[in-house]
Amino acid sequence: MARFAGRTALVTGAAHGIGRAIATRLHAEGASVLLADLDVDAATEVADRLGDGRAAARRCDVTAAADVAAMVAACVDAFGALDVLVANVGVASGEGFDGLDDEAWDRQVGPTLRGTIRCVQASMPRLLTSRHGGAVVMTGSVNGLSAFGNVGYSVAKAALPNLAQNLTVEYSAARVGEGQRPVRFNVVAPGTVRTRVWDTQHPDALVPLYPMGRLGEPDDIAAAVAFLASDDAAWVSGVTLPVEGGILAGPALAFQERNPG
Ligand SMILES: NC(=O)c1ccc[n+]([C@@H]2O[C@H](COP(=O)([O-])OP(=O)(O)OC[C@H]3O[C@@H](n4cnc5c(N)ncnc54)[C@H](O)[C@@H]3O)[C@@H](O)[C@H]2O)c1
Repeated sequence: MARFAGRTALVTGAAHGIGRAIATRLHAEGASVLLADLDVDAATEVADRLGDGRAAARRCDVTAAADVAAMVAACVDAFGALDVLVANVGVASGEGFDGLDDEAWDRQVGPTLRGTIRCVQASMPRLLTSRHGGAVVMTGSVNGLSAFGNVGYSVAKAALPNLAQNLTVEYSAARVGEGQRPVRFNVVAPGTVRTRVWDTQHPDALVPLYPMGRLGEPDDIAAAVAFLASDDAAWVSGVTLPVEGGILAGPALAFQERNPG
């Protein structure tokens, strides 16, 4: 399937983990992909491996407005368009509510929420004039949908579903300018996915919480992002798609085990 043939995608946080899997998947389905990341060496390695003249890497810190503007310009310079934005960067630093001082707040909400908004704002002029109809997918989290702790990170992720809804209206058919097309905005909300962020923790202890009997892999999330970014989701906007092995249904499962009647 080449759902993205002739289209250009920009993926942030694309050097590792979920972002790398998303960039790889979109490329495999025909997209030209700009992989943006703080870790430009790793992003370059991925782009070189993808090759085919349809992948490039760029250093970008999503907390820096100038970097983000230059990233969008670099995408257009490299591939002539921007049709799909995947705003994937998120940072969790694990403080409890008591420890959530200004510094901890900025460290998490800066890249996770403000960075996402900044990337969308910088991309809008190009997405509105995409000849395919622009699409934005933001990486949320189950942390933004229920109380899984890590409160600073979680409230930043919780804002994304509302952002997708507001932007769906803001950039709807009735409101866009002449020569522009409505843009779709959706969120993918992963459960626990095996990436390096779990390296120093014990994610296998979480497996029993997952009705599907395993943790997620980056490719599980990439498949959902590819769907939301593609024309298969042409009539889908403002939604949040949990991709989480059933963990949000898990508490009900535990409840029924203790209360079989
Ligand atoms: N792994 C999980 O269990 C899980 C679960 C739910 C949601 N998520 C979300 O998925 C996304 C990707 O997480 P991951 O697990 O792949 O993490 P990861 O650490 O493997 O990848 C994150 C990437 O973002 C880059 N990055 C960090 N700060 C940046 C910045 N300011 N500017 C540009 N790039 C920056 C990193 O260099 C890295 O390449 C995040 O938004 C995360 O919150 C992850």
